[in-house]
Amino acid sequence: MSLQQLELPTIQRPSTTRLGAGYRKRLSDLLSSDLDFRGKSSAYASHNFHAFPAKFPPQLPKKFIEGLTEPGDVVLDPMVGSGTAIVEAFLAGRRGIGFDIDPMALRLCKVKTTPLALEETATAGNEVLHHAQESLQKDETKLRQELNTRFEKEERKFVNYWFLPFTQLELMALIRELEHVQDHNIREFLELAFSAIIITKSGGVSMARDLAHTRPHRVQDKTPRSALGEYRKRLDRNLKSLATLARGSGMVEILRGNAQELPLRNQTVDLIVTSPPYASNAIDYMRAHKFSLVWFGHSLSSLSQLRRKYIGHDAVTGVEYVELPDSARQVVSSLAQVDQKKAKVLHRYYSEMTRCLAEMIRVLKPGKAAIVVVGLSTMRGMDTRTDVCLGEIGKQVGFELISIAVRRLDRDKRMMPARWTHSSTRSQIEERMHEEYVIGLLKPEAR
Ligand SMILES: C[S@@+](CC[C@H](N)C(=O)[O-])C[C@H]1O[C@@H](n2cnc3c(N)ncnc32)[C@H](O)[C@@H]1O
Repeated sequence: MSLQQLELPTIQRPSTTRLGAGYRKRLSDLLSSDLDFRGKSSAYASHNFHAFPAKFPPQLPKKFIEGLTEPGDVVLDPMVGSGTAIVEAFLAGRRGIGFDIDPMALRLCKVKTTPLALEETATAGNEVLHHAQESLQKDETKLRQELNTRFEKEERKFVNYWFLPFTQLELMALIRELEHVQDHNIREFLELAFSAIIITKSGGVSMARDLAHTRPHRVQDKTPRSALGEYRKRLDRNLKSLATLARGSGMVEILRGNAQELPLRNQTVDLIVTSPPYASNAIDYMRAHKFSLVWFGHSLSSLSQLRRKYIGHDAVTGVEYVELPDSARQVVSSLAQVDQKKAKVLHRYYSEMTRCLAEMIRVLKPGKAAIVVVGLSTMRGMDTRTDVCLGEIGKQVGFELISIAVRRLDRDKRMMPARWTHSSTRSQIEERMHEEYVIGLLKPEAR
């Protein structure tokens, strides 16, 4: 999308709404309330349509959306990921806007916020499966030919390495049928289920282990499950959840866009709830997403070019570095004493986050809040103090820092960088790896 300003319908309200005067206190109370959500399930509505690392629990955005906005208000997530905040905004009758640069995040988020006619969608899904099954039985030669012409050389090599020949045929049979689905929204829903059988926490149909979680490595002794069988199961699960989306009454807009340069007018947003990538590039989204994006026609070279644009990526040339507040400058210079390159990577991250936070304050209405959720990151064993530094950067761009709440992560549920879950000793840093920080920022009224 060009940087044309996105038009948001304006709803004028008197400045003292129900939330008006007590807003600041309410924000502060919400930040000091229980944010651990122990024992709460995230398996409702469309939240579990597809795996995605480091999602926040839906209860978190829900709490701030319900506590700080009213129906019709605009809720923004500028790094929307799998869309948890926007699904909650939609369910609560708000106007959700999400931006991301990751093609898989955009697909995912769009499908998760688009209610569909259940019967029609189920019928289309069943037809896809039926025809795919049929062509596998009767038309294998044609499928092989299509498979041979579908990919360029690099992609062909990639697919051959990661998918067994029979799995490739099954996936080819499915994708061919998916391409024939007429209704655009239904097709996207069905395509997402296709992607969900490849990118899974526990292995999926490729030869990679634990794809959504770790650096992929090929497992020789894996017997991947049947792609058609997995598709059947996933489709049924997603259809069940789709039914619950019907109760959402909000409006949603999901757009490709860079959080450092938002195509939104000044002072148009009522609440921001977001979680940026980790400082140390600990979760490499593209690494997993390319496994299914390659089937949707993306070239590997275009995906790796895009990957360099992710906030927190470790390319350090051509970066616009900015002056950082003391805390961030100190962390960067301590790191530089052990590793110059990593210090530049961290400086890049804080520069990018400075631009993101400056955009957040620009688009927020005065007197409204941004909730920024970050995990701990380490570089060369050093804590990058992302919570403190982002709080300070928030102040530098004009926010009032209300507080930084700490929440304990449910290790079994949340997909975190793998190396964090396998440590036997418990240093202070390791303890903090199971925490996450909820930074509460308020845009002053007088800006
Ligand atoms: C931690 S994830 C967000 C997870 C999300 N809160 C959820 O619940 O699914 C961070 C997201 O930031 C996105 N991102 C990285 N660089 C970006 C940029 N320059 N502009 C917008 N989004 C970006 C990544 O693609 C990723 O989806």
